[in-house]
Amino acid sequence: MQLIDTFGRVATDLRVSLTDRCTLRCTYCMPAEGVPWLPGADVLSDDEVVRLVGIAVDRLGVTEVRLTGGEPTLRPRLPELVGRLAGLRPRPELSLTTNGLSLARTAGALRAAGLDRVNVSLDTVDPERFVAITRRDRWHDVVAGLAAAEAAGLLPVKVNAVLTRGVNEDEAPTLLRWCLERGYELRFIEQMPLDAQHGWQRSTMVTAAEILAALHAEFQLTPLGGRGSAPAELFAVDGGPARVGVIGSVTAPFCAACDRVRLTADGHVRNCLFAREESDLRTPLRSGASDDEIAERWRKAVWGKRPGHGIGEPNFQQPDRPMSAIGG
Ligand code: GTP
Ligand code: 5AD
Ligand code: SF4
Repeated sequence: MQLIDTFGRVATDLRVSLTDRCTLRCTYCMPAEGVPWLPGADVLSDDEVVRLVGIAVDRLGVTEVRLTGGEPTLRPRLPELVGRLAGLRPRPELSLTTNGLSLARTAGALRAAGLDRVNVSLDTVDPERFVAITRRDRWHDVVAGLAAAEAAGLLPVKVNAVLTRGVNEDEAPTLLRWCLERGYELRFIEQMPLDAQHGWQRSTMVTAAEILAALHAEFQLTPLGGRGSAPAELFAVDGGPARVGVIGSVTAPFCAACDRVRLTADGHVRNCLFAREESDLRTPLRSGASDDEIAERWRKAVWGKRPGHGIGEPNFQQPDRPMSAIGG
């Protein structure tokens, strides 16, 4: 059985949010005071995560599992959980999207437990700007975390950068040079209307076209094509082999090729970042449902996936849950 929708897309990439909490307060994501966090009792336990991911890989054709948050490394005993997920059969590819703060301490244990690779968020090479963006003075921790990920063999190390107008919009070439020097694969991400404050405006978003224009002024970029279901459009930099990606989620949506499905930290399936409905798996899980029953519920949840996010369409509604609660 596979997770297919009415447009023929097959979801093979499961993104599991392990917590909605985070150690940073990025301005484009949440307000300084944070958001109302999920009550602890609602969050799936390790056993529950392993059971649900097991059903996904064993019965529903999921081949890639990405652990996200909030900040997934806030989860106690994360290496143990990674080890249990790596023990599932067929073994999924396992990756982590993190703010990088704790990687200097945990990269080795995560790698040893079976994690394959990491994507780390870093929006600026300037420690002061980092404070302006994240409201925390932790730039050096992220940089140490990136180095630790590389040393631990969590390869390729990818860096995700979000540009904000008036803050770091001029930083595309600088960030690229910084990542090239260190062997990290940089991807720029267009800001999406997924902030807790609902303050996103299309007019202030730094677009993929602007980012590419700024990069073209300093680098020779050759489109690599063959993007498949990956969100990033990739370019070889100055003849390669180094690459840079631009994720134009808003101006160049990749929804028609989407292969993603999400599990929130409280055990709900979301068939899209911008889904208007979720399907609760936690309640049946906690009331004794069989693997078959859960798999069937999951299949139905994906079947109803809309064709795209609909940003810019007249009836577009920003989801109630912010990115930090859905999983990045
Ligand atoms: P790779 O397997 O390394 O390519 O991972 P990824 O790019 O899918 O993962 P990552 O978590 O690093 O996501 C990068 C960014 O792409 C996210 O921060 C989002 O902004 C965006 N993104 C991820 N998933 C989706 C999605 O399903 N839809 C849209 N529109 N954007 C997404
Ligand atoms: N739009 C685009 N990307 C976002 N991220 C967080 N919020 C948004 C948003 N509204 C990014 C983070 C991180 C990744 C998980 O998602 O910077 O790199
Ligand atoms: Fe897939 Fe929804 Fe993301 Fe589009 S917005 S790529 S449909 S998850």
